Amino acid sequence: MEKDTKIRDSFPLIKNNSDIAYLDSAASSQKPQVVIDAVNDYSSKSHANIHRGAYKLSLEATDMYDETRKKVAKFIAASSSDEIIFTKGTTDSFNLLAFAYGEENISAGDEVVISILEHHSNILPWQTLCARKGAVLKYLDIDEKGMILKAQINDVISEKTKIVSVTMTSNALGTKQELGDIIKRAHEVGAVVSVDAAQAIPHERVNVKELDCDFLAFSAHKIFGPTGVGVLYGKMEALEKMRPYQTGGDMIEYVELFESTYAPIPTRFEAGTPNIEGVVGFGAAIDFVEELGYETIHRIESDLTSYAYEKISEIEHVNILGTDDLDKRASVISFTVDDVHPHDVTTILDSDGVCVRAGHHCAQPLMKRLGVPSTTRASFSIYNTYEDIDRLCKSLKKVRKWLGYGS
Ligand SMILES: Cc1ncc(COP(=O)(O)O)c(C=O)c1O
Repeated sequence: MEKDTKIRDSFPLIKNNSDIAYLDSAASSQKPQVVIDAVNDYSSKSHANIHRGAYKLSLEATDMYDETRKKVAKFIAASSSDEIIFTKGTTDSFNLLAFAYGEENISAGDEVVISILEHHSNILPWQTLCARKGAVLKYLDIDEKGMILKAQINDVISEKTKIVSVTMTSNALGTKQELGDIIKRAHEVGAVVSVDAAQAIPHERVNVKELDCDFLAFSAHKIFGPTGVGVLYGKMEALEKMRPYQTGGDMIEYVELFESTYAPIPTRFEAGTPNIEGVVGFGAAIDFVEELGYETIHRIESDLTSYAYEKISEIEHVNILGTDDLDKRASVISFTVDDVHPHDVTTILDSDGVCVRAGHHCAQPLMKRLGVPSTTRASFSIYNTYEDIDRLCKSLKKVRKWLGYGS
């Protein structure tokens, strides 16, 4: 417990705002002081544009940027830092992938398979690709607990499938998916697999070799890093099948009047000046996670999730969505309150300083599938406490009374 207070105190926003219970880390986690310091130090001591200057300051900034690329590669067990492309975030990673891989490798009649659980950022890039190419978008369905149905995998993923793109952990339900059978089947039919790790990597070690995925996407801001930075990992042989996405500065080798040649991978996919301070801060976030260790993260978050699950389950008229097997749930609990719109729930909780999210969580097809317009979602991270959850529950118990339902 002493150690946990130390963790909490290392997040200035949390430490300095004891009047709020921040329960929206699935949307964006708070940043520890070491990440804030890394960004500030870089800006005040080391900033210059990268890959361009032959002077010391620019070389130093370039080294710092490239150092994070090496850290990310090691963090997810990529074979080389050349397999790490920096993007603006998961959304940008999927847009890059769907264009750069899709334009080269998808034709009319081909099939792209995703699941009904996906965040919009792993739906729309494929929808628009399929519309451009005359390809077909297919969905893997879920069971009533929010787990992808295994029985349909061999039917939905067929010889026509060229890309499968699925989430490791649902942002809306918190359910952790077992992707082994999907990835195996996709590879059997010759498709590439892309994995959305945005909600997984804050909570568990993600190893691209063990997963055997061809691509993987995530955002720094959900794992204690800055906003505006993300990663697209790709196996080198898969990246080699992609065309450049955005064109312009930095991503070129030679530019002639009417044609150009491109820089090697990964620079080829990073046109223009990147978010250098964000990438440097991301490096500090990875160090922070490595120092703390996923075991500690998992211990704290699973304690909080079990406690919250039990306490929220006891509240009358509150219905938790997704699995009751807590081993298959990340630290996310989505629920509805009978007769009350989630926006009203959230507004009442906010008046008690409890920060949770309401809405469709950028997963409208999933909401439709579940038969709800939206939900309220509480999500927990290493800086949360049982008291935060008690505050949530106390406030939640008031909601229906305040709106005149009696109980
Ligand atoms: C599962 C999942 N995928 C993708 C995204 C999109 O991430 P970003 O907004 O950082 O691009 C999110 C963000 O909530 C997410 O939870």
